[in-house]
Amino acid sequence: MVNGAIPGELLNRIARFGRLYLLDTVTSTNDYAFSLTSRNEPAIVVARKQTHGRGRFRRRWFSDEKSLTFSLLLFPDREKPAAFSAAALTQLAGLALCRAIENRFVNPANTPTPRPLLRWPNDVLVQEKKVAGILCEKRGNGLVVGIGVNVNQTELPAHLTEAGSLYSIYRTTLNPLELLEEFLKEFFSGLELLKRADPGIWNEIRARSVILNHRVEIRTLLRRHTGTAIDIDDAGRLVLRTDSGRLALFTAGQVRQLR
Ligand code: BTN
Repeated sequence: MVNGAIPGELLNRIARFGRLYLLDTVTSTNDYAFSLTSRNEPAIVVARKQTHGRGRFRRRWFSDEKSLTFSLLLFPDREKPAAFSAAALTQLAGLALCRAIENRFVNPANTPTPRPLLRWPNDVLVQEKKVAGILCEKRGNGLVVGIGVNVNQTELPAHLTEAGSLYSIYRTTLNPLELLEEFLKEFFSGLELLKRADPGIWNEIRARSVILNHRVEIRTLLRRHTGTAIDIDDAGRLVLRTDSGRLALFTAGQVRQLR
């Protein structure tokens, strides 16, 4: 994650958002975060290395010390259940990460900054490369938002043909913890808007979507569906007009764009 000393001020700024756990090696930051639920306080778990990092559908998640690998432990506000659904928080986390990336890579020379985009439900893409993935899970009264970002890698394993790192796109290295701080600012200010059901958040999520108005295939555990992605609703669900003409709602699934 970070080599050498980490400025204490940066750590203090991050710790304003929750109890900070900076770890060397863990199985998965999501599992570590869940192990803290009995403490009943929001937490941020950051690890240099994961031995069993998980992606969606129990896939393995690649990360190394050049990644930003972290999980947020949250306790849903019972009065605002809609804002704390896994589907909504996955979208909010994706948006917050897009904004954080943009904030960190504003180019002083004013050359166009490649815009980070969202591929529903959980991928952040820049120039069609997946630079980050989000895994939001609920267990008991805790909700964990786990995020892996490829930050400073000059190369990624050859089998990850779809993946890219921020360095490979923006050609600038970045302290992953600075990106984390930026993410936390965007995430928690967005969460306030989500709690108030402010439509602005959803409008930006839709505007950054790479699949809206495109033909897609959605694979769920049960079957495949094809059609046109016509909306992401205010609960984070994808609305598909299927090829047979009916409207279907999805809270999760694996999406592939059809040409
Ligand atoms: C995906 O794209 O399938 C989601 C990947 C989520 C990976 C992150 S890395 C931090 C956290 N800990 C895990 O075990 N997984 C998430």
